[in-house]
Amino acid sequence: MLRGMSGSEARRRARLHGTTVGRVRDDVLAYTAGDDLRLDVELVEYDCLGTAAHVTMLAAARTRPPLLGRREARRVVRELGQMAVEARRGRFALRPEDQDCHLAIERILTERLGDTGRRIHLGRSRNDQVATALRLHTRDHLLGAVQEAAALAEALLDFAGRHLRVPMAGRTHLQPAMPSSVGLWAAAWAEDLADDAVLMLNVADLADQCPLGSAASYGVPLPIDRALTARLLGFSRPTHTVLYANHTRGKVEAAALHACAQTMVTLSRMAEDLILFSMPEFGYFVLPAGFCTGSSIMPQKRNPDVLELVRSRAARVAADAAVTLEILRAAPSGYNRDLQDTKEPYLRGIGTTRATLRILEPFVRGLNVRPERLAAGFLPEVFAADRAIELASSGLPFRDAYQKVRGELDHLTREDPAAAIARKRHLGAPAGLDLALLRGRAAAAARMAGESRARHRRAFTRLLGRPWPPGH
Ligand code: ARG
Repeated sequence: MLRGMSGSEARRRARLHGTTVGRVRDDVLAYTAGDDLRLDVELVEYDCLGTAAHVTMLAAARTRPPLLGRREARRVVRELGQMAVEARRGRFALRPEDQDCHLAIERILTERLGDTGRRIHLGRSRNDQVATALRLHTRDHLLGAVQEAAALAEALLDFAGRHLRVPMAGRTHLQPAMPSSVGLWAAAWAEDLADDAVLMLNVADLADQCPLGSAASYGVPLPIDRALTARLLGFSRPTHTVLYANHTRGKVEAAALHACAQTMVTLSRMAEDLILFSMPEFGYFVLPAGFCTGSSIMPQKRNPDVLELVRSRAARVAADAAVTLEILRAAPSGYNRDLQDTKEPYLRGIGTTRATLRILEPFVRGLNVRPERLAAGFLPEVFAADRAIELASSGLPFRDAYQKVRGELDHLTREDPAAAIARKRHLGAPAGLDLALLRGRAAAAARMAGESRARHRRAFTRLLGRPWPPGH
């Protein structure tokens, strides 16, 4: 008897369940399918595309008899296009006995097309099938994240432009350090994000290799054309060895999640600054009202919940990256079912990153500053380093100037913050910022992502013989 269950419950659970790929007990089916029934809904449209490429390739192979008839392939592709639309509209339901979206799609094709549906799995395995769907997903979503990161960078640069010379005490160790500006603060986060976007673009390039045709991990004794399927799906190239094609499962997910985690770290640190600097005790920034939540007991509260969740979600994405590597670490070569469990952290991590980028763009656009509160942060000590540098510029060794200012700290006077930042004119300094250069970097990343996505859409439209995505 299964532990923790009544006898009849255990007998009911232990019933063998017939599936496309063999008979297993209900409880085993539930355990092994895991979260796929829920998670795979997101993969359906990508698997329809991968399957469409596979059957198109089968029908193009010059064998006698054909691996799949051309008319049959066309009917399959038509149904797949239909199914992908249904999935997009939230009308695709997996059944427990399907195990995952791959078997669900095959079942539905068989229900709708009879024997033709039962021919399509020739020359592939669920292993290369799921790897292909995931690579299409990674490419699409990372490129989407690049565009969203660029949009947020642009919002930050607009904000920087509006407050370019508004003085803000720069801090190190959170202690007042040197004269700086709101423009520098915002431009720095924009540059951070532009670099994160480059990282995500690079991982999108890793994901841009087609694993289809590697089958279970060892290829098939058929003249399949892997270059053709890669081309049909708009991939830049197929992965080469069929074994490595399966090893990219999880590995590319981990790389994508690390790029996401890197992006989330940027956002989390910026969120932390905003939480701190919008506290009444600082009052430098005013957070947009629509993004703050109230308290059930304290009428005065306007809490920065969004920013707090950005911090916790950055922690979660980092954990998603870490667990993905941990799952891979002990997996031997070839496909192992462990790989299935990389799906959840992957989908969650990339989804969280995109949602965070998207919510912060309007947030930054609604941000306001209070110059008088920022000015009040300029205690005389903020000018100490500038004073030492000024003394040294007239010939004194810097160490002597430093000691002199250090000995007279109590007599330091408060200078004009605006004049102090105006004197820092070199490259990248508060008065030497080239916002156009940063805009160019963000725009270049967004353009590359946009062009790639447009190329993929054209490939999918050709492959399915209908506009893809629908309504685009
Ligand atoms: N749902 C499975 C996964 O995500 C599909 C591959 C199953 N392959 C197998 N040999 N059991 O990994």
